[in-house]
Amino acid sequence: MALQTAPAPERDPSFHGIDPTSARDLERYADPFPSIHHLRRVAPVNETPIGLWRLSSTLICEMLGVPAADRERFTLWTAHATHALAGTMAPPDVQARAQNAAMSLAGYFTDLIEERRKSKTDDLLSELIRAEEEGDRLSHSELVVQSIGLLIAGFETTIGLIGNGVAALARNPREAEKLRARPELVPNAVEECLRYEGPIGMTLRVLHEDASFGGRTIPRDTEVWAILWGANRDPAMFPDPDRFDVERSNAREHLAFGGGAHLCLGAHLARMEGQVAIGALTARTRELALASDEIAWGASLFRVPGALPVTFRPA
Ligand code: HEM
Repeated sequence: MALQTAPAPERDPSFHGIDPTSARDLERYADPFPSIHHLRRVAPVNETPIGLWRLSSTLICEMLGVPAADRERFTLWTAHATHALAGTMAPPDVQARAQNAAMSLAGYFTDLIEERRKSKTDDLLSELIRAEEEGDRLSHSELVVQSIGLLIAGFETTIGLIGNGVAALARNPREAEKLRARPELVPNAVEECLRYEGPIGMTLRVLHEDASFGGRTIPRDTEVWAILWGANRDPAMFPDPDRFDVERSNAREHLAFGGGAHLCLGAHLARMEGQVAIGALTARTRELALASDEIAWGASLFRVPGALPVTFRPA
């Protein structure tokens, strides 16, 4: 079960190329709940935060080719850097912190890229470096920006999916019980987690032409924030939208991954990670409950718990 000793699976570094049947491999090499062994010793009550970040951070580091040992260094940088997405809507001190974090990440990747340039492998960073070296496909600064973007996108968000999902299941024990009785519901449960409390609440678009919305005309070139959380709780689309229902028949029609040309590139990977984590959690625990009603949110712009102490009995 230990993360470091299990074998790494064969992998395809392109996000869309992942075979869903390899989910079992993910389970083997990135166990989302390694602390359960410790729990057996301290059961029945555990107040240790579950290692939510372990699965998603291990996977994105593996795929991207970032040493997992550096995680401690960049976890806070990635969280702070997300606030750059809010631009000038963020308070000045938050903007400054985001900028510092982005600079630290840029410095980190500049060093890593120089090192990897000398010995490229089959990881995504090596692929991006090849694209840069071909000259006209990616400039050096685009290479750094894309690397940072992928690390942040693949790191923070999935922690939020799993963390918010764990919280929803802890607060809705009957739904968790359904997953124990019928594990084939897990993929739909992950869609419901994304609909009910996805980690990203909004996304930006610039209008290419005038658009009419709610009886008003919004002129072209306007920047529009689409509120994904609103869409995902729209009662016209999802009856009784505030109910967490792992059997909801159209749960997958949520907009947690955005839509159109910019639909999340990592949706497939995130879904797989969510299924492994939620599946393992429900199978291996009983009487899952939050240790506190208050969730301590993390430092990022996204809706991601900073820690999520829970209590449960090992199955
Ligand atoms: C639960 C996990 C995730 C959620 C909720 C999420 C959500 C989103 C959203 C809302 C967008 C903007 C889409 C739009 O504007 O239409 C986006 C874009 C993106 N995501 Fe994710 N994401 C997740 C995981 C990931 C992962 C694991 C990766 C990569 C490893 C990733 C890579 C990207 C990239 C590269 C884009 C930009 C796509 C583009 O602009 O064309 N995401 N994601």
